[in-house]
Amino acid sequence: MTTEASDLFYAIHHTRAMRRLKPDPIPDDVLMKLLDAANQGPTGSNKQNARWIVVRDPAQKQKLADLNRTAVNAYVGNPDDIAPDMRGIVNAVMWQRDHFHEIPALLIPCLKFDQPPTGTWAAGAGAGGSIWPAVQNLLLAARALGLGAALTTLGLSDRPAAKAVLGLPDTVEPFAIIPVGYPTGNFGSVTRKPLEEIVHYDRW
Ligand SMILES: Cc1cc2nc3c(=O)[nH]c(=O)nc-3n(C[C@H](O)[C@H](O)[C@H](O)COP(=O)(O)O)c2cc1C
Repeated sequence: MTTEASDLFYAIHHTRAMRRLKPDPIPDDVLMKLLDAANQGPTGSNKQNARWIVVRDPAQKQKLADLNRTAVNAYVGNPDDIAPDMRGIVNAVMWQRDHFHEIPALLIPCLKFDQPPTGTWAAGAGAGGSIWPAVQNLLLAARALGLGAALTTLGLSDRPAAKAVLGLPDTVEPFAIIPVGYPTGNFGSVTRKPLEEIVHYDRW
């Protein structure tokens, strides 16, 4: 299927965090296309140690929704105190909080380590560096296929609880929860700082 969003640069500029999603199921072949795109991402030393959990079971989704709710409530605090420029995002985050369990698929990108990771593993480039490219591939593939997705991490705030829900061994770490489904609204374009503000030449 060729759509405007199949164009790589168009997709890059129109892949936003889509939080309001319909409960309609995602066909298996479409889901496999997403995961296959993710699987083309690079990994350090080509270890190919990215792993994915596809959560569709209602009871499992509810457990992750409960973890996400706790973390979102702590993050949002009192909704009346939200700064005006943050209200749009926070309203969408609260919608997602209230519908998390209805979203057709929650995708969990993980990395498998040789040994149980310790200390500051999460900060090491070799750790997250081998999963984030796959995540971005998946987000772009979702956009190209007309699916909405959002990279979320709040639901992993209680990491031991999330790992227990997912049945992860101590050598496997989750990095995000990506709710995926067909969007209720329209895709917009991303808004980012201009390059002049973020690029330095030859030195800082
Ligand atoms: C590391 C990381 C963690 C994030 N965690 C969450 C999250 O827990 N919940 C959520 O709704 N969005 C989360 N996001 C999405 C960001 O809020 C979103 O990408 C940002 O506001 C830009 O939105 P846009 O891409 O629609 O322009 C996260 C994004 C990143 C990169």
